[in-house]
This record gives sequence, C-alpha cells and structure tokens, in this order.
Amino acid sequence: MQEEPSFMLTRLDHIAIAVPDLEDAIRRFAQDLGLELSGREDVEAAKTSTAFFPVPGTKIELVHPLRGEGPIAKYLEKKGGGLHHICFETDDIEADIARLTALGYRFLGDGPKPGAHGKRVIFIHPKSAGGVLIELAQPQE
Ligand code: CO
Repeated sequence: MQEEPSFMLTRLDHIAIAVPDLEDAIRRFAQDLGLELSGREDVEAAKTSTAFFPVPGTKIELVHPLRGEGPIAKYLEKKGGGLHHICFETDDIEADIARLTALGYRFLGDGPKPGAHGKRVIFIHPKSAGGVLIELAQPQE
C-alpha cells in the first residue's frame, strides 16, 4: 500500500518582485495600486532591502539589492526588474528539504538561512522547478 504524501506547505507567504528603484516601486504599489506598505526590512543574509505590501492571505514583497550587491543585483543586471520568486510557508522546512531532495530537487545554499520576519528560508534551484525560483519559509516557533 502506498503511503499518503505529507504536504507541509501551508500557504503562499509572498510573491517577490525585484525592483531596480525601491522608492519608485514603493510609490507605485502604495499610491498607484493603493496597497498599504506594512513595513521595510534589510535582510543581511540575503543582501536585500525589502518592502512589504499585505494583500489578504499573502503579501507582495519588493526586493532590492542591499548596498548594490548580492543575488538581486545580479538578477537586475541580467534581467532588469520583474517577478523574482514565490514563497510558500512551511511548518517543517527540514522535512520539506529531505522530502524534495529525495525526489531529486536541488537547493541554493547548504541549508536554511535567516530571512525577513525572522523566518528560516531556503530556495529551490529554479532548474529543479521548471524555471521558477521557489522559496520555502518556516516562521519562528
Ligand atoms: Co522571499
């Protein structure tokens, strides 16, 4: 008998958009689109400067390179701004990593790192996921 798969992803945590000009993008999402800016955070581990716009059940996260360096800087150089990644919340990131690794998925980095809002995060390599960069994030207990 086949075992039931256990799905640990619990919700769409955020959709991240890489922006070359953070202030301009904040203005667009706040003033033009009418979303409410709920906060900003610099994430050293990811070298990003971020801004959050909640929408029911999830949020839009604008990501901009911190001090002009890091993976978002490279992304902007190559592609300009645009949809960067989607993030699912998980209640067991280690179990997800083990389960997906067993299925042949590759990850960026060795293990979960500190992300925004004190969450532990890891990215699935886009080559493992049909060209989509997928982040998994586990909230602090
Ligand atoms: Co993210």
